[in-house]
Amino acid sequence: MTDDNTRKGDNTGKDDNTGKDDNTGKRVDWLRSELHRHNHRYYVLDDPEVSDAEYDRLMQELIRLEEEHPELADLSSPTARVGAAPLEKFETATHTIPMLSLDNAFSDGDLLDFENRVKRNLGGDEKILYCAEPKLDGLAVELVYENGVLSSALTRGDGVNGEVITENVRTIGSVPLVLLKRNDLPMPSRLEVRGEVFLSKKAFERLNESRAEKDEPTFANPRNAAAGSLRQLDSRITASRPLEMFLYGLGSYDNMGPETHWESLSLLKEMGFRINPLTRHGIGIEKVLEFYRELAENRHDLDYDIDGLVVKVDRLDFQRRLGSTSRSPRWAIAYKFKAVQETTKILDIQVQVGRTGTLTPVAHLEPVNIGGATVSRATLHNEDEIRRKDIRIGDTVFVERAGDVIPKVVKVVESVRTGEEKEFVMPDTCPVCGSLAVRQADEAAKRCVNSACPAQLKENVRHFASKKAFDIDGLGQKLVEQLVDKGLVSSYADLFQLDQETLQGLERMGEKSAKNLLEAVSASKKVPFARFLFALGVRQVGEHVAKLLAEHYDTLEDVMNAAAEDHEAVEGVGPIVAQSVRDFFSRDENRKIVELLLERGVDIQYPEKQDSEQGPSELAGKTFVLTGTLPNMTRDEAKTLIEKAGGKVTGSVSSKTDYVLAGEKAGSKLAKAEKLGVAIIDEEAFKKMIENR
Ligand code: IVH
Repeated sequence: MTDDNTRKGDNTGKDDNTGKDDNTGKRVDWLRSELHRHNHRYYVLDDPEVSDAEYDRLMQELIRLEEEHPELADLSSPTARVGAAPLEKFETATHTIPMLSLDNAFSDGDLLDFENRVKRNLGGDEKILYCAEPKLDGLAVELVYENGVLSSALTRGDGVNGEVITENVRTIGSVPLVLLKRNDLPMPSRLEVRGEVFLSKKAFERLNESRAEKDEPTFANPRNAAAGSLRQLDSRITASRPLEMFLYGLGSYDNMGPETHWESLSLLKEMGFRINPLTRHGIGIEKVLEFYRELAENRHDLDYDIDGLVVKVDRLDFQRRLGSTSRSPRWAIAYKFKAVQETTKILDIQVQVGRTGTLTPVAHLEPVNIGGATVSRATLHNEDEIRRKDIRIGDTVFVERAGDVIPKVVKVVESVRTGEEKEFVMPDTCPVCGSLAVRQADEAAKRCVNSACPAQLKENVRHFASKKAFDIDGLGQKLVEQLVDKGLVSSYADLFQLDQETLQGLERMGEKSAKNLLEAVSASKKVPFARFLFALGVRQVGEHVAKLLAEHYDTLEDVMNAAAEDHEAVEGVGPIVAQSVRDFFSRDENRKIVELLLERGVDIQYPEKQDSEQGPSELAGKTFVLTGTLPNMTRDEAKTLIEKAGGKVTGSVSSKTDYVLAGEKAGSKLAKAEKLGVAIIDEEAFKKMIENR
């Protein structure tokens, strides 16, 4: 398959077929269906039937007709693949069924343990057959089709809510905009499918070359490049990046009745999706292990990055019986490849100062390619670690990169030491502000004591403006550095006092970008409670803890005034975190900054305790009991949906139960519900309730 994008924009074609008005509609329909078909042959089957020039000619004719007849516009037209007008921001939407992640296995033993767990949970001694697919190192995306037409595409997000990236996904050649019909079978009214979007290694290299030429920052690896491409507000940029997609699963589906995972993949293929041709199915665990070894050895020959093998119990009835934990399904596991290591030389060790003042020694390396990415720095964590591994400047070392993780120095190759290597000494002062750097008795790291240290401030401001905090678009590292160095920002609260004139005076800031930034700052003022708490940069408070606090407390004041014991009473918050929150809010300077934020217009959005934005939910406050096997979702999935809508799930039926959601083979609970006159609903009725809420 050619992986360039000649099909997406340029053309040489000449119009020769001007349709008469009444025929135009038909001609447009014909062109669309031909182009869909050619697209499928080219991107999915890798078996084109026409030349690129012929394809372009048809495309140009369609573009012209659509321009002349705007009334014929259609979002699923092949012309939509060139991208659409930029968006202001991405909307978010809830996945009908949460997108979980996978448990990992790191050894054959882990995989055999997985098989034992599966067998035990199924309670039989039947031979388990698996479907095994390469684990692509890209981004999980969900596609939704309504009556056979692509209606939306979502990122995984936090698994429950994702970002709506439909315009961008439409530009991916191998994603069908319209599903192929299968032997007179009706189109499913709604189909949700999932897969991985990625960029080939070749396309990644080409993209980086062209960025380097234009003096634009290059991407560290194909995954980041794919993520960057998919998160473009301007889908025309996405269209210029040859993203690809392999499908690996059905989300929610109706009336299609596959019995194994492999059958679902085959169905997907029939409907026009691309599935990974390396997939194996109907194999026992021994064969899975063989496949793993084969793939591990050959993976560097593939034109895309994979980081392991996903092993799935093939039978769907088994999958349903096994169910999921809140994090991952019990019927699948990712057997990860061993991290890749290379040797290189430590040229220098420098100290970085983090957001909380932590001094981190970083090894500057002779650049080395590790599994496709160039690595020139690796963290050394802290001085104990350096001593323990006896790492010296000038040493030759093994460096490891495992997936997304920051590269690390594994060990020194002592045999090649020359005696010229220099020991590293951790400074007693902060390399940025010169203040004392002290090490607390119970900590491995030294910390700069100056809370006004510019290095800390810069990191704090960056954290405050980051995606998961205030999400201020356009406030990059260089800009933060200038703002702090010039004294324009001495706490993140000062971001809300910037003005056009000041900003315009900065390097690389034109009138337009200054205006955009001010708009982004102003738009960020309305901020959900959890993100506000996360943004403050309280030590120990990550995204998750911030969410827990926001759910527990009614107002910011309550958080600020609570004692450490109160925080500890929040489920999931331990004593160290609790104390850290308390410490933060007991310092006057922090309270002052919070006050300034509010004074300067930050408007905290408190969560609706009962989801009333969508009208009072039919499910809110209602008690459900689940019984039997549901046809298209696991009980855990149903439970998550109920809880998200404000309902509750209990284990046994009583007069207090509002609904019993019953699937196949429902037993005594169903009988009891009937006896007590409790409403009994099936999955279909349940889905309607969820949709109508
Ligand atoms: S199945 C319930 N199959 O791995 C999760 N995932 O750690 C079902 N991934 O978010 C996922 N290749 O992005 C599955 N063949 C494959 C995959 C795959 C890559 C990613 C996916 C998911 C992550 C889970």
